[in-house]
Amino acid sequence: MCGIIGIISTQEVSSRIVNSLKKLEYRGYDSAGIATLVDGNINEVKCEGRVDVLERDISKFNLKGDIGIGHVRWATHGKPSKINAHPHSSEQVSVVHNGIIENSTILKKLLEKKGYVFKSQTDTEVIAHLVTDYLKKNSLKNTIIKVLKKLHGSFALGIIFKDQNDLMVGAKRGSPLAVGYGPNENYIGSDSYALKSMTNKISYLEDGEFCIVKKDQIEFFDNVGSHINKKVLNLSKNEIDYDKGDYKYFMEKEIDEQPSTISDCINEYIDKYNNQVNILNFPWKTSSIKSVMLIGCGTAFHSCLIAKYWMEQSTNLDVSVDIASEFRYRKVRFKKDCLYIFVSQSGETADTYAALDLCKKNKVKTCAVVNVVESSIARNADLVLPIHCGQEIGVASTKAFMGQMLVLYILSLKISFDQKSITREEYKHKVENLLSLSNSAKKTLKVDQKILNIAKVFAEAKGSMFLGRGYSFPIALEGALKLKELAYVHAEGYPAGEMKHGPLALIEEGMPVVVLAPRDEHYKKTISNMQEVIARGAKVLLITNKNKDEVISENIWEKIEVDQLDEDLIPFLITIPLQKLAFYSALKKGYDIDKPRNLAKSVTVE
Ligand code: G6P
Repeated sequence: MCGIIGIISTQEVSSRIVNSLKKLEYRGYDSAGIATLVDGNINEVKCEGRVDVLERDISKFNLKGDIGIGHVRWATHGKPSKINAHPHSSEQVSVVHNGIIENSTILKKLLEKKGYVFKSQTDTEVIAHLVTDYLKKNSLKNTIIKVLKKLHGSFALGIIFKDQNDLMVGAKRGSPLAVGYGPNENYIGSDSYALKSMTNKISYLEDGEFCIVKKDQIEFFDNVGSHINKKVLNLSKNEIDYDKGDYKYFMEKEIDEQPSTISDCINEYIDKYNNQVNILNFPWKTSSIKSVMLIGCGTAFHSCLIAKYWMEQSTNLDVSVDIASEFRYRKVRFKKDCLYIFVSQSGETADTYAALDLCKKNKVKTCAVVNVVESSIARNADLVLPIHCGQEIGVASTKAFMGQMLVLYILSLKISFDQKSITREEYKHKVENLLSLSNSAKKTLKVDQKILNIAKVFAEAKGSMFLGRGYSFPIALEGALKLKELAYVHAEGYPAGEMKHGPLALIEEGMPVVVLAPRDEHYKKTISNMQEVIARGAKVLLITNKNKDEVISENIWEKIEVDQLDEDLIPFLITIPLQKLAFYSALKKGYDIDKPRNLAKSVTVE
């Protein structure tokens, strides 16, 4: 994780570095820092906490300088503190780093033997001293080549040099780094979003590459120092200023935006005149695909899980799902007739990217379902299916989950139609049904008052459980994840049928349990499982869909009913009360809803 920004200009840079850091806070927000070069001296301001604190501190120092680097941190080595905040400086250089240096302990010992003194507990500080050491006997370019060779692990780096007032260096292996071109100034940044207010002309470094950035020139090199040319991309100029509007929290707004997420996505992928799926750029014959492997992390993994149910239900494909951090280290037998689908909101998650990279190296078919279309994952997959849900700022993913599920549902429909594994009538019916989803989602949003009271119990609970079968099982996992992320309440998502194989022992008097029991083929069985937890004292919140038959069960604590849609669309609706439950539970406890503790929006370390 962590966010990097660097600017070299003819004008002072500190305020623009701070503005860019605010945009990068989704990558980490436990500490922040900035270093600028002024008259041959490197001046640093660092703080524990958010960029707002850094901004306040900078104003006290009147930080000058027309070259500077800045950083927002998500701690890996060393706790969040001022001393561990980046940049890390030696007597010669100042470094910002995103990633993990895996051999930092060995390098630190070697450097200490040479007399270098370490101030922080970070892995990054070794880079500052290593560069300083190599600079003694090498040119700047050779220093960078040698240092990068010495480092194991992943990194994006920004470096400024005390004796070089005309340049900064950027380097990448594993973690992303964009380079921006401006008028009489140039930039480096963790993503184009951080640079967009300054330029729309961007290049991306690839693994092993580095660059020397001057005000009026950028030179790119490969890992042995040979000059390379980079493609300059022109990004769309309109920087969408995404604000909270009338909402107090981004997450709250993003939950409420889901009906539009659904309709925007449907407008992109459904031809309403001909009632059919419109994925025009699908580059393969569907007959060449016999299986699908869906890969993601966190919430994105849950959307992969639910897609397995849809795809198995309506296509002839063999469908498997894996967590990216597991997939990338398993001994996978890659298959030419398998489509490997990578799901990621940010498109930058390190494990998901590494899993994609592995597939690319094995020359198999890859597809990315992403929100950020300029991301590393989007740029590297054979086929990109954007989820079109606009920027998501709340660290806990909500509307992106909705978009991911929807794109995967639509993809599954396309494949089943092409494969003729469903009839034309079924296909038309499913496409038509999708058109009412946004409206039903809008109605489902109106549960605030009820959820507010329910959330009081979940917020105070020692632990909670979320149960479901079939399509509802991945949603139970997602509901539990949301509660953990936001309200810091222990929550387990479980297949309802598995309760008696262990977790039932956890149920005690008054424990809140969510039971997802829409009227599908599992309904009766789930209701029986619900009885089993009620009998042991659980307070059950039942989430089901409206039906002419009342739920026949006693002692249900609370009940929420969503619209009656076809059962494969119910997951979209029952997700919403669970997001609100997590939101109100965190609100009740006064936690930071958009930036929960210990988390980050884009996880660019393993
Ligand atoms: C982080 C975020 C989650 C997200 C996960 C995967 O943990 O906090 O909300 O689901 O990363 O991120 P991605 O960008 O790949 O979807």
